[in-house]
Amino acid sequence: MTRIRTHTCGELTPRHTGETVVLNGWVATRRDLGGVIFIDLRDRYGFTQVVFSPQDDKEAHMTADQLRSEFVIGVKGRVRERDPENINPNVKTGTIEVRVHELQIYSRSETPPFEIQDEVRANEDLRLKYRYLDLRRPVMQNNMLLRSALYRHTRNYFHEHNFAEIETPFLMRSTPEGARDYLVPSRVNPGKFYALPQSPQTYKQILMVSGMDRYFQIVKCFRDEDLRADRQPEFTQIDVEMSFVNEEQVYELMEGLMQKLLLELKGVRVETPFPRMTYRQALTTYGSDKPDTRFGMTFVDFSDIVRDSDFRVFSKTVADGGSVAGFVVPGKGSLGRGIMDRLTKRTRDEIGAGGLIYIKNNPDGIYSSVSKFVAESTTRDMVDQSGAETGDLILILAGKGDQVYHQLGALRLLMAREYGMIDESRYNLLWVTEFPLLEYDEEDGRFYAMHHPFTSPREEDVDKLKDDPGSVRARAYDLVMNGSEIGGGSIRIHDSALQSRMFEALGIGREEASQKFGFLLDAFRYGAPPHGGIALGLDRIAMLLTGAKSLREVIAFPKNQRAISLMDNCPDVVDTAQLEELHIRLAGKTKREE
Ligand code: AMO
Repeated sequence: MTRIRTHTCGELTPRHTGETVVLNGWVATRRDLGGVIFIDLRDRYGFTQVVFSPQDDKEAHMTADQLRSEFVIGVKGRVRERDPENINPNVKTGTIEVRVHELQIYSRSETPPFEIQDEVRANEDLRLKYRYLDLRRPVMQNNMLLRSALYRHTRNYFHEHNFAEIETPFLMRSTPEGARDYLVPSRVNPGKFYALPQSPQTYKQILMVSGMDRYFQIVKCFRDEDLRADRQPEFTQIDVEMSFVNEEQVYELMEGLMQKLLLELKGVRVETPFPRMTYRQALTTYGSDKPDTRFGMTFVDFSDIVRDSDFRVFSKTVADGGSVAGFVVPGKGSLGRGIMDRLTKRTRDEIGAGGLIYIKNNPDGIYSSVSKFVAESTTRDMVDQSGAETGDLILILAGKGDQVYHQLGALRLLMAREYGMIDESRYNLLWVTEFPLLEYDEEDGRFYAMHHPFTSPREEDVDKLKDDPGSVRARAYDLVMNGSEIGGGSIRIHDSALQSRMFEALGIGREEASQKFGFLLDAFRYGAPPHGGIALGLDRIAMLLTGAKSLREVIAFPKNQRAISLMDNCPDVVDTAQLEELHIRLAGKTKREE
């Protein structure tokens, strides 16, 4: 019979001395000292030392001899203060112990494939296969609990702000958000498929047409895209839509949410309003549309200074419409030749730049890696322009269009990581605004929506939609925290005519538009309020708040890099009968049939 616990393993203090208590939990460690058995008993709340001595109870002591790691037990005993020399200041309950007089073994455990502790030596695949054990590790439990608190504060915040929480379907028509859909075959409609939502975008817009005014949902989204540390095929969004708003109301609402989450979950106060930066500014000063502003090293454009240089790499780049730009690395003018050679190689191999040029502004003079080709006066002008101080290093790249900024952005991050320039205790949030509405795809020879096709162009750019679509700016915004895109949204098109012009610019014909999005266009014909919204990536926020390096650390049952769940081994083949019922015949043979 289960002994109902009176306390958790993280609860007892000297205040409880003398009380008889019941604890339940897992055996974390066991030590035998001169016939006395010490067990660290673990549950979600902490650890408590429980002691079995023949003096306290012979039978319990004998049974305790069988205990091994991860056995699940119940103990009844008396709380005692530890002798001063046995106090463990690293554990909440480190000043007490429980002398056991009754022990019950609820369940035994095989030897686990890895130790259940924060520092784990097992590789990730093994951890994912035995996820139930991995999730017993205190660090993972804390991640899950932080995530749980994240839901709670988010829900409270939106309810306090008069938002309605509305569920939208998982079985839906496909909505293009730039990734591939996960499809679900319909049994009762042979040959037809649902798609799992890449996001509830169309539903939330339709809810605005329905007059719901303020909607939010904490919702799973599904995208069949190539996976990275910050991407999972199924992930969770904090999805929001509001009527009769412009960008300012969306910013204010989300700033309030982030402020609350950081305060409640991390005790960190962030100031509002958050800084804003246009997409163009972000690209030309940080080399990224999700700049990490926890450190400086912003870019300086040297193109004007080097336009007439004898050094062809400089002058030709500028003549061809490219840029010569760089950034100052504080205090790194002393880096030796070998280190600079390795950095140059990494800049070529990992970042894809043609080469790296550098200037050291050292106390004994200016050294340039291209001093043979570039006039001394030009080099000096570059140092002046850069604002470098004595002892600083200037890194410079030359290249085409936006590419050189992307490469500089990667080099900036590489340097910051390499030399520990990132203050990990900071949470820097900002809005990136004025994204281009459309993106040209060279391969397909057509434009795609950079955000999604429902995003409104800026009013002053609408007329360029037909003749110069590439220059149209969107009323879209991203929320960036510490160099991660944690959210994206826009003010939407709420007018059927403008929405049709947008589809035209995207090369989606009238028929295709009506077939794919007819329901939305129809809805707009019956009184659509101006509306806008945003979705935050909840997993990414949890990752940043826990300091984890991958989303897999903050999702209870994630997929690995090959979109496989190793614990329950899916995806997997299914029976032919099941396929037949779904009217599906496979082109290739399934593994089971081979
Ligand atoms: P978007 O596609 O920008 O916008 O997604 C919003 C946020 O969701 C997170 N995210 C992901 N997180 C983990 N794994 C993924 N595969 C993944 N993909 C996206 C990111 C991202 O910023 N419907 C629009 C929102 C809107 O316009 O309101 C949308 O989904 O943090």
